[in-house]
Amino acid sequence: MKGRTLRVALPGREYDIEIRRGALDALPSKCAELMPKARRVFVATDTTVGGIYGERAVASLENAGYKVRLHAVPAGEESKSPEMLRELWEDMMSFGFTRSDAVVALGGGVVGDLAGFAAATALRGVDFIQVPTTLLAQVDSSVGGKVGIDLKAGKNLAGAFWQPKAVLIDPECLETLNDKIFSDGMAEVIKYGCIRDAGLFGRLAALGGRAGVMDEIEEIIYTCCDIKRALVMEDERDTGARMVLNFGHTLGHAYELAGGYKKWTHGQAVAAGMVSASRVGAALGVTPCDIETQIRSILKEYKLPEVIECPPEIMREAVSVDKKSSGAAVKLILLKKLGEAEIFPIDRERFLSLASAAQGGAE
Ligand code: NAD
Ligand code: GLY
Repeated sequence: MKGRTLRVALPGREYDIEIRRGALDALPSKCAELMPKARRVFVATDTTVGGIYGERAVASLENAGYKVRLHAVPAGEESKSPEMLRELWEDMMSFGFTRSDAVVALGGGVVGDLAGFAAATALRGVDFIQVPTTLLAQVDSSVGGKVGIDLKAGKNLAGAFWQPKAVLIDPECLETLNDKIFSDGMAEVIKYGCIRDAGLFGRLAALGGRAGVMDEIEEIIYTCCDIKRALVMEDERDTGARMVLNFGHTLGHAYELAGGYKKWTHGQAVAAGMVSASRVGAALGVTPCDIETQIRSILKEYKLPEVIECPPEIMREAVSVDKKSSGAAVKLILLKKLGEAEIFPIDRERFLSLASAAQGGAE
């Protein structure tokens, strides 16, 4: 199948996002094309993805003449840790990895962020390819070069901007996802509709669920990656335009923290965060009141939570380590209308009081 390609044209760090059924099998040819000196390929994955796709990836690379090391971390957010990063570094070195060799991140956002950070830092930076296998990773985390790990103080607090040499997206990998993880990715897909593409939002509402989305999956992934690509090209370092990607994330991070990163997945937390952000936006007179209803309705269709309880002290803790906070100000992302987001700086105390009120009033 032909598939579709998008170019992330960052000067000196340009790369393609290829979206194609069966793209996983193009890994050896991509390594040869983009990293012609590589002899070793270090494939980082997690135990679940490694069990499903690891052998296929390793066999195709070995058949092409590469020495391959498959390293599987335990599946789950806990693996985005300094301990796992160190294990990756050590295993790369014991494998005889050199600066001209290649890292492949085969998995969801956890593997992409962790292995990308290992690639950014091992031997002061080596090339890597993202092969995202969750919907969330295919539409969001594999594109744009944000890599990193979590610290005790919060998520993604150590990391780098390190762009991949390519993003290979194989929508067939989504077929093995369970419904919860698929829905999780839908939260980010819905977010793109909210911030940049009212047409996408309407289309998703009409598709009504996973089966409908899978019928149009290549086009949907393409649309989302195109939006992200444009924002990354405009603002690679996340100091301006790119911040709109964080719609629903400020309170989303608080909800993840409130659930100890176990009760709620990232996508579920972002879903409820988008509802809260709409309520806060309405209270500030920025967001039309009917947007909350529209977002709630689409979240129901995709089995995502609309409300997550969060104690005020957890909200305060999460907002104070949020990377969009500076001094006493928080940069909120609010919708002016469906398909149009804006950055709205607000005093942190005022935001916390509005967010608590929005929470209290949620049915
Ligand atoms: P994940 O990587 O933990 O994957 C979720 C689960 O799905 C895991 O258990 C995994 O083993 C399993 N899985 C993955 N692919 C599968 C497949 N094809 N079939 C069956 N099971 C499969 O979670 P995620 O939702 O992909 O990513 C979440 C992470 O992404 C968070 O750490 C978040 O902070 C990060 N993130 C990063 C960015 C960025 O720009 N770097 C953006 C958004 C989110
Ligand atoms: N997921 C937010 C970003 O990449 O900027």
